[in-house]
This record gives sequence, structure tokens and C-alpha cells, in this order.
Amino acid sequence: MDNLNALFAEIRNEFPALTQKVHGKKLVYLDSAATTLKPKVVVERVSNFYLYESSNVHRGAHFLSDAATAQFEGARHSIARFIGAEHFEEIIFVRGTTEGVNLVANSWGLSNLKAGDEILITEMEHHGNIVPWQMVAEKVGAKVVAAGILDNGELDVEDFKKKLSSKTKMVAFTACSNVLGTNNDVPLLTKLAHQVGAKVLVDGAQIVSQSKVDVKAWDVDFFVFSSHKLFGPFGFGVVYGKKAILETMPPYQGGGSMISKVSLEGTTYNDVPFRFEAGTPHVEGAVGTHAAINFIEKIGFDKVHAYEMDLLQYATEKLSAIPDVKIYGTAANKGPILSFNLKGAHHSDVGQILDQEGVAVRAGHHCTQPLMARLGVPGTVRASFSVYNSREDVDSLVKAVVKARELLL
Ligand code: ALA
Repeated sequence: MDNLNALFAEIRNEFPALTQKVHGKKLVYLDSAATTLKPKVVVERVSNFYLYESSNVHRGAHFLSDAATAQFEGARHSIARFIGAEHFEEIIFVRGTTEGVNLVANSWGLSNLKAGDEILITEMEHHGNIVPWQMVAEKVGAKVVAAGILDNGELDVEDFKKKLSSKTKMVAFTACSNVLGTNNDVPLLTKLAHQVGAKVLVDGAQIVSQSKVDVKAWDVDFFVFSSHKLFGPFGFGVVYGKKAILETMPPYQGGGSMISKVSLEGTTYNDVPFRFEAGTPHVEGAVGTHAAINFIEKIGFDKVHAYEMDLLQYATEKLSAIPDVKIYGTAANKGPILSFNLKGAHHSDVGQILDQEGVAVRAGHHCTQPLMARLGVPGTVRASFSVYNSREDVDSLVKAVVKARELLL
């Protein structure tokens, strides 16, 4: 562990945001599940792109445009390899996880779902993996069904199995809950879904920064994630889709780039993935994501995982020892996310006191109102850890929670 601590202490220097004070206190950033901080290498890559390389892609007949296109498409190849996709054509660039789910729900959903069909989700989904399905279900007369969770925050796999049937056409679930931290068994759930002939979409928003993704080995049909939770730029994300499925899907949005030929009488569409990328894309988003992937791969997911699990275990032990703290989500297989409440105190009040102590957490429903209803609370306080955190950060959190308890209870 000593070697790991030294390595991650070095990595922390890559994040200038952590050198600042907030409310006169050293910033302790424990909100990586909302967005990760950005390392210098990513910011410098984006900045250099804007300063020297800024040009539109797939359009120009000049050096800069060709260079930008090469960088942009290079990022697509890097992202394909990063998540284990077989073909670069399986990588569609979008604004983020939410737009990714909307793309699949509208393009695949509207052309494949019909009245009486079911979309199976889980009780721990983020609104981004609930609402798009509800909207499409309403249009076609399909139904959204949710598998329950156990009291420890794990998915109730028996309930999941019970709710799968020949009516199920899509199964959409998160790889890691943004509230409970629960890591779902993606290969198992995918296999079960495929046994009834359903397609599978995995929300990868939380998992991409924590562990190695392998869409091919997992056999998922769609996988979506955002770059800003992977140390990359805001406003950029990815839809992975199996090539054979993407090729059957109609465009999501119309415009430039997504066409093969346009006349005033009608339009034929481009090949995948370009069919799904109307308009000028987020070029620096792709380039910055490429840099973010290089950053995390240089550390290595085995080290990231070992380090983050140590922080999670340490934080769980320390927080559990404070009287009146209730932790939500104690699954055996968890990401570095810790949700809790102080019994008798409102999560927002706790969040505010933590903020005054320089400790940045998220307090609220975390865009998971159905999960909050299941837990029987309006919200929680959520601390989430990443590569730039340390045991000292956990100690600051604990100290601030003790203070909140003294002030509020
Ligand atoms: N989905 C992000 C979160 O959990 C924004 O905070």
C-alpha cells in the first residue's frame, strides 16, 4: 500500500484544482461521481487544440482540417480499444450518457418497440436511464418495468429474472449505481436478457473511471458513458452499439455529415457511425477524451481499483463509527461511492456544513427519485472518491460529519 500511496500522491499534483481553498479551508473534493476533476494533461491537450489545431473535421481541403480529422478519428479508435469494441464504427460521439440513452431509445426503440412490449430497468437507475424509456414507451404503448433491489443495495437478481419474459425487448441497467455504489454483474444480467431475446443497454457513467470495461466480453448491445466522469471534457460522450444492430437503426437527428446524398426530393444516409452524428461535432471533446484515456491507462486500472477500494473501506469504517450515521449501499461489489445520512438531520443541512469545512459532496436525490422512494428518504449525502483523494481526505470528511452532528442533533 505504501507504494500505491506514493504513486497516488504524485498523481494528485496533476490536479491544480486541489491546491485552492474554499471558505478559507483546504478543498477536499469528494464529488467525483458527479464529475471528476481534470488533470493538467487533459486541459493542456484541449488548450493546444484550441490554440493551434482548431479546425472543422471531415470538411476542409486544408492541412489543419485534415490534422483535426486525424485527431478526431484517432480518438474514436482509442475509445473503441479502451472499452473493448471490435470495430471503430461501433463508437458514436454524443454529448454524454443521457444523450446516449436518448439516442438508443429513440432510434432503436421507436423502430423496434410496439404496444405490449416491456423495457426492464432497475430501481437503482439514474433518471437518465429511466425517463427516455418512459417517453418512448408512452409513444409506442410499451411498458417500463423495474427490477427491485435488496436492502443492502444489491440488485434483486431473482426479481430481475421474474420480470424478464418474452415481452421484454430491452433491458437497460447501470454498471454501477451513482448512489449506492453497487456494481452490477453485467455479463450475468446480459446473458439472462439475451435468453429471452431482449437487447441490453448498459449505463457506464460511473464505471468507466473505476475499472476496465469490455463490451465485447460482456456481450452488451449498447454501452453509454460521459467523458467528464473520466477526467475528460464536459459535453462529450459515447454510445457503443454492436455494428450489426447500428446498421439497422435510423438516424436520431438530421443535418450535415450524417448524409450520403441530399436532394430536395429526399436524402440517403451515411454509414454508421456518421449517420448518428449530425452537424459539427465536439472535436475537442474527442481529443480531450483521448488524452484522458491515456492518463488513466498510464496509471492502470489494477492500481486505480486497489487504491480506490482502500479509500472506500477506510471511509466506510470511519463513517460507520460515528453515532447516528446510516450508510446506504453495502453491496459486496462496490465502486468508491458512499451515501449516508445523519439520522434526524436533513441531507442538505449536512451538505452545507461539510461545504463550510471545505468538503465537497453531493447532497440530494442524485437524479434517482425512484431509488430514494425505495430507501424511504428524500435524499442522501454522497461522498465519492477518485485517484486524487487520500486517507487524509477521508479524515477531513469524518471530522466535518462529526461537526455536523454536533451542530444539527
Ligand atoms: N449523475 C451525476 C451524479 O450522480 C451527475 O451526480
